[in-house]
Amino acid sequence: MKTGRMMLRPATRHLITEVYERLDYGALGPVYCYEGGEEFWRAKRGPCDRLGRRIAVVLRKKLEPGGRSLYVGAGVAEIPALIMETVELDRTVEPYNLRRAEVTALNSASHSIPLKFHLADAAGAKGRFDHLWIVSVLNDPERFPHLSPLSYGRGNPLTLDPLKFSNERRIVRALVARCMGKLARPGFVTTTTEEVLWIAEWCHRHRVPYRVGTHQYPTALVGDPICFLEIGKRGKWSG
Ligand SMILES: C[S@@+](CC[C@H](N)C(=O)[O-])C[C@H]1O[C@@H](n2cnc3c(N)ncnc32)[C@H](O)[C@@H]1O
Repeated sequence: MKTGRMMLRPATRHLITEVYERLDYGALGPVYCYEGGEEFWRAKRGPCDRLGRRIAVVLRKKLEPGGRSLYVGAGVAEIPALIMETVELDRTVEPYNLRRAEVTALNSASHSIPLKFHLADAAGAKGRFDHLWIVSVLNDPERFPHLSPLSYGRGNPLTLDPLKFSNERRIVRALVARCMGKLARPGFVTTTTEEVLWIAEWCHRHRVPYRVGTHQYPTALVGDPICFLEIGKRGKWSG
């Protein structure tokens, strides 16, 4: 039998199910796929919900109640974590996403809860946050076609365009710097194993101590495993 520590509260679970049921998967299809969107969501909706809830349970143990979270590139996969933070930890969440159709679908599906997705660059978010969520953003092949293959260890020396790569790396570093600059210390970062190097680089440059958690958690949509980092905390590592 599962204990409360391993599961979200019934009210949270109910809200997550409600939002997933209300989502307009027809509108989301072209956002995630060039073709075959309906089939994609038929296959991915269940795993997205299930793996998202698992990550939300882990995150609940790591975050303090009442804080603020900045979500960069939050989409369908982030729904369980966003709802858990709002309902169970009484935290303020600010999810940002640059894809208009996805933001519209997410906002209309979550109208009954205090959750609003912003169609804007997360770098412009105001104030301080104690949690930064940045998952499958810095290695996105659509946005960073020249940098992304290297992030996945698939760079091709024959076709690499160093100027375009260098330009994309500058954009990624600037986004990381703007977001990490808003993070309180000690703070917490949720990211993927492919993106963790950008956070680590920023910490090295700013002489900020950081620790990467050893556990990795699978995700459903992009498939990059998630990991957690503690930032600016000296002494004992909690996980
Ligand atoms: C590959 S998708 C990942 C979506 C989701 N995190 C997931 O794992 O399924 C990348 C997302 O990041 C968003 N994004 C990229 N740069 C952003 C920025 N500066 N501010 C807000 N969103 C951004 C894009 O709009 C897109 O929705």
